[in-house]
Amino acid sequence: MNRPIDLRSDTVTRPTRGMLEAMARAEVGDDVLGDDPTVIRLQERVAELMGKEAACYVPSGSMANQTAIRAQCEPGDEIIAHGESHIIHYETGGPAALSGCMVRPLSGERGQFDVRDVEGAARNASIHAPASRLLVIENTQNRCGGSVWALERVERVTARARALGLRTHLDGARIWNACAATGRAPREYARNFDTVSCCFSKGLGAPVGSAVCGDRATVARVARFRKMFGGAMRQSGLLAAAALHALDHHVERLKDDHANARRLGAALARVPGLSLAYEVETNMVFVEVEPRLGSAADVCQRLKGLGVLALPNAPTRIRFVCHLDVSAEQVDRAAELVAEAVGAAAHA
Ligand SMILES: Cc1ncc(COP(=O)(O)O)c(C=O)c1O
Repeated sequence: MNRPIDLRSDTVTRPTRGMLEAMARAEVGDDVLGDDPTVIRLQERVAELMGKEAACYVPSGSMANQTAIRAQCEPGDEIIAHGESHIIHYETGGPAALSGCMVRPLSGERGQFDVRDVEGAARNASIHAPASRLLVIENTQNRCGGSVWALERVERVTARARALGLRTHLDGARIWNACAATGRAPREYARNFDTVSCCFSKGLGAPVGSAVCGDRATVARVARFRKMFGGAMRQSGLLAAAALHALDHHVERLKDDHANARRLGAALARVPGLSLAYEVETNMVFVEVEPRLGSAADVCQRLKGLGVLALPNAPTRIRFVCHLDVSAEQVDRAAELVAEAVGAAAHA
C-alpha cells in the first residue's frame, strides 16, 4: 500500500536528501563542553534572525518553553497565557512540575487576547497572592486554528505587560509561519519579548530541535536548566546542521503549505456535514464534524482506512496540517477521501 497522506502534524516530515547530506558533512564537537562548531553557528544565526544577543539550542519546543519559563520564574510565581495555549495543554504540567508556577488562563477568540485581559489578570504585589511574573504569547496559535497574532496587537499587549512589571515570552514554535503569513521579519515580533522560542522540527522540516533566544544572562540560565532537565547533548552539530539547512532552504516555501491549507480548507468546507472551525490563516485546517457523522475520532479512524491520517482535536473537531511532505495533488486527493469517508458515514 502507498504511504498514507499524513496530515497529523507538520512534525511528521522526514529529512530531505539535501538535509541528510548537510548532516553527514557537519563538523561536530562536544556541545556540553561548548565546542560544537555547528551548534555554535546555528545559535549565532538564530540569535541574529531574532535580533537577540544569544540563543540556546534545545531538543524540543517543549524544552524551549520550559527552560525559558524556569529561567525567568520562581516557585509561587504566576504565568499569564491563553487558556488554549500549548504550555497548558501539551507540556504535561511542566510549569507546575518544573518551575512551581501557576498559569492564569485568559480567554479570547482565535487563542488571542488584548491589553484589558492582561490588565485584569496581572496582580498587585501582595503577601497573599502569587507574583505575576511572565506573559506568554503563542504565535502562531496552534489549538485555535494556527492563527496569527498581528504585530500591532503583540506590540500593544507586550508594552502593557512590561509596564505592569511582567517579563514576556514568545512561544514561537511556528513563528516562521506567522512571518510567512504577515510578511514580517522574525525580529519584528521578537523585539517585543524577553525570550523567544522557535522550532526547526515543525514547518521547517528538521528532524529535531528548537532554540531559545534572549539576552546573554537569560540564555545562560536557559542553558543551565537545559542541563538540569537532561537536554544538553554532545555531538548535536549533526542535528544543528539539519536546522541550518532548513533555515537556508525551507523558510521561503512555507507559503506553499499555507496555499495548500487554504485549498484543503476550501475543499473540505464544500463537503456536506463539515464546516471550517476557523478561517485558514497558515498551514492548519480545523474542521467541525456534524454529530450525525459520528465523532471526530470515528471520522479519523475511517480516514485512516482510506489512507489519510489526521488527528481529532476535540470531540467534534479534526485538525489537518499541511507541510513539506504533502503536495497540492495529495491535498486534493485527501479532500476527495475525506468526502468519501464522510459520505459513507452519512449513508450508514
Ligand atoms: C505552539 C507549540 N509550542 C510548543 C510545541 C512543542 O514542541 P515539541 O513537540 O517539539 O516539544 C508545539 C508542538 O507542536 C507547539 O505547537
